[in-house]
Amino acid sequence: MTREEILAELKRLEPWFHRIDLGDGLYTKTESVMGEPVDHPHGPWQTIQKLLPPDLSGRTLLDVGCNAGFYAFEARRRGAKRVLGVDGQRQHVRQGLFVRKVLGLDVEFRRLNVYELNSRTVGQFDITLALGLLYHLKHPILALENLYQVTNELLIIETAIMPPERTPESFAHPLGEKQMLLHSLAFVENPSGAKEQVFNWFLPGVESLKALLRTTGFSEVEVVEAKNERAIVVCRKTKAAIDDADALKHFIAQLKLEQGPRECAPASELTFHLRVENIGMARWPANSDDVTGKGAIYLGSHLLKDNEEEVDWDYGRAHLPGDLEPGSATEIEIKLRAPQTRGKYIVEFDMVAEHVAWFEDHGSGTLRRELTVE
Ligand SMILES: C[S@@+](CC[C@H](N)C(=O)[O-])C[C@H]1O[C@@H](n2cnc3c(N)ncnc32)[C@H](O)[C@@H]1O
Repeated sequence: MTREEILAELKRLEPWFHRIDLGDGLYTKTESVMGEPVDHPHGPWQTIQKLLPPDLSGRTLLDVGCNAGFYAFEARRRGAKRVLGVDGQRQHVRQGLFVRKVLGLDVEFRRLNVYELNSRTVGQFDITLALGLLYHLKHPILALENLYQVTNELLIIETAIMPPERTPESFAHPLGEKQMLLHSLAFVENPSGAKEQVFNWFLPGVESLKALLRTTGFSEVEVVEAKNERAIVVCRKTKAAIDDADALKHFIAQLKLEQGPRECAPASELTFHLRVENIGMARWPANSDDVTGKGAIYLGSHLLKDNEEEVDWDYGRAHLPGDLEPGSATEIEIKLRAPQTRGKYIVEFDMVAEHVAWFEDHGSGTLRRELTVE
């Protein structure tokens, strides 16, 4: 591209939040657009770069809320083998793609909201950056769980925080029978209709930020900098903690009915075919090493009347044909016996981890089928 073409494209893609050196004396911007330092993000980069491994060769890095891609390009320059920048706003993806063309650096960009991130949509990355993102989110816990899911080793968070001098101290307080620790988190009241990705919603105190990240599952959470109402936090996953967290928290299934009756005669045999997909993070073992069968995963079902009254909670089960890894799907046939009594019923399918939990208790969606017995 000629200098004139680059300048014209820079103008067309304004406003720029990131100042990126395009070479030949050209920068993506030369003045501040919303009060940020003109050379943003060179300031935070001084700290962030020290938190990254000095040599990123062989590593993969995801930059969430990447804006025009300053950090993503720097990671690629340090040798990362795959770098993906995602941003919820198309405008920033356009900027990133343009800078990529000028710099000739192989960085992927996608328009993707943090709420759409999971190991199926983007895979998993050794390192994830979520810089300047958290306070833009109305659903911070959902976002942190997604960030946890796509990160293998290290997540670096940079965020605005509650003004420290106005942040009440954490304190223990009884909730029910238990003494619980309460941490401060401020909700920012915005005008109605405020655009989520542009406005600020929650400003955590440092203690609530740490607690949120620990609760999400990170085994090590270290605040490396807290100044000027901003904090930088390094979060690590260790293997043992991943196994624990997966077992406890990531039983999520997607169930689809491929075939099955809507009407039947009393006491007749019913055959349903379902497609079940493991969209959580835990592996589903078809069998268990435990003598009680604890932990084996089955397709289960409940029989309810159409007014939700339970007729048979453990109505019938089917085995998995084999272990099911996260991101995989399989077909299962389940045979059930229709009730003796005529009427309208609901057959509700859910996966179950034997002696552990029904998946619905983990927030997984069930599949309901109306059944008329006549
Ligand atoms: C304050 S800027 C920070 C940009 C960059 N990470 C940095 O630190 O310089 C926030 C960025 O997050 C993006 N963003 C906000 N909400 C988002 C969401 N829900 N999902 C993905 N990106 C989001 C915005 O579009 C914007 O580019």
